[in-house]
Amino acid sequence: MNAPDLEHLYRAHLQVIKARADRALEKAGFDHLLVASGVEKFEFLDDRPYPFKPNAQFKAWVPLVRHPSCWVAYTPGQRPVLVYYQPDDYWHVPPSPPAGFWTGEFDIRVIADPAEAAKHLPAGGRAAILGEPDAALPGFEPNNPKAVLDYLHYHRAYKTAYELDRMRAAQRRAVPGHLAAKAAFHAGASEARIHAAYLAATGHNDLDAPYGSIVGLNEHGATLHYQYKDAQAPGRHRSLLIDAGAEVDGYCSDITRTWGDGDARFAALVSAVEAEQLALCGKVRAGTDYRDLHLECHLRLGGVLRNLGIVDMDPGDMLARGVTSTFFPHGLGHPIGLQVHDVAGFTDEGGQLIPRPEGHPFLRMTRTLEPGMVVTIEPGLYFIPTLLARLRERPEGKAVDWSAVEALAPWGGVRIEDEVHCTDGAPENLTRDAFAAA
Ligand code: GLY
Ligand code: MN
Ligand code: MN
Repeated sequence: MNAPDLEHLYRAHLQVIKARADRALEKAGFDHLLVASGVEKFEFLDDRPYPFKPNAQFKAWVPLVRHPSCWVAYTPGQRPVLVYYQPDDYWHVPPSPPAGFWTGEFDIRVIADPAEAAKHLPAGGRAAILGEPDAALPGFEPNNPKAVLDYLHYHRAYKTAYELDRMRAAQRRAVPGHLAAKAAFHAGASEARIHAAYLAATGHNDLDAPYGSIVGLNEHGATLHYQYKDAQAPGRHRSLLIDAGAEVDGYCSDITRTWGDGDARFAALVSAVEAEQLALCGKVRAGTDYRDLHLECHLRLGGVLRNLGIVDMDPGDMLARGVTSTFFPHGLGHPIGLQVHDVAGFTDEGGQLIPRPEGHPFLRMTRTLEPGMVVTIEPGLYFIPTLLARLRERPEGKAVDWSAVEALAPWGGVRIEDEVHCTDGAPENLTRDAFAAA
């Protein structure tokens, strides 16, 4: 996208953000909205900073992600103020002067000391101040009014055209990483080297990727959020499960692919899960309750377990008796945007919980799909020793072909994850589109 188009999209996006702020302030009885980007945090008794992660509410206004101690101050009907912290620092590279497609929309005040921000924030009236407690300045302590947050969070599920554009760009940034990781796997690399190949191809480093990539070889694929990257390559490369994303202007992608060594049984498992994943992506349509899709996913994965001779039971019974949950113990997916696990997946506009189906405590999305929402669709089947041991003790364990489980367990598991945009008509699969274009 060229710069004038992006500027145009951004301007329209900011109109939406302002309109949401107007409504949230009116509902909750506030005059101003102040949003702190956050502060840099340091290790205990040390001068080593942790990676800075900005307040997502701040990123909704401006695409600034390396910018602690900044503020957006908005009063309905007025031009928003951006207090921009740019220290005179020779130990680090300070933020460059404000530049880019977004600057025309703000009254920008550059400060060199975080405390100076107070001079630029509205002095009178009632302010809703969004941010972490550490971001407080004298007289400006974040109060994070629940009614304001509930409203803003709920509406963040509906992406603007600008947000969709940035999310497509985040997909395009991640895809070369996935292709490089696949090649490194087939070349026999360690997890650490596969991870390095991913980062090099995306232009990310460990600290600015949207989440810690999951790079699991063999049995490590069975740990849902496997957090290490072994420097030593295993003796044999059976499988790679890589769950890794990218970020553009504060918007995230979250993509999982599973690759195998050609073993026929594992290949059949991967392609069966992928077929169900694609079918589920095709059902991201307005009016569909995401909870129903999650339960449908269980039935589909139960069908895979039965067809591959792993569990001899009707898929409906597998769902009812918690057998599919042994092999698929997480939710179908979640909203995504400014945060990988975006807010308000299971609350309504007033912050009331929209309950999860009983027995499905990890589902992160319980809302009915509507145009503009972007969700992940990420079914998986895993051979998780601790969950399998529990199933084996139960009567349902008798329906399992344990020799089939033992044969597949060294491959760890399968997860396939895409981002899908719900539209007025056919869904847009942001991830598949980016792979197809690569
Ligand atoms: N990367 C974590 C998830 O897929 O939700
Ligand atoms: Mn993921
Ligand atoms: Mn995900």
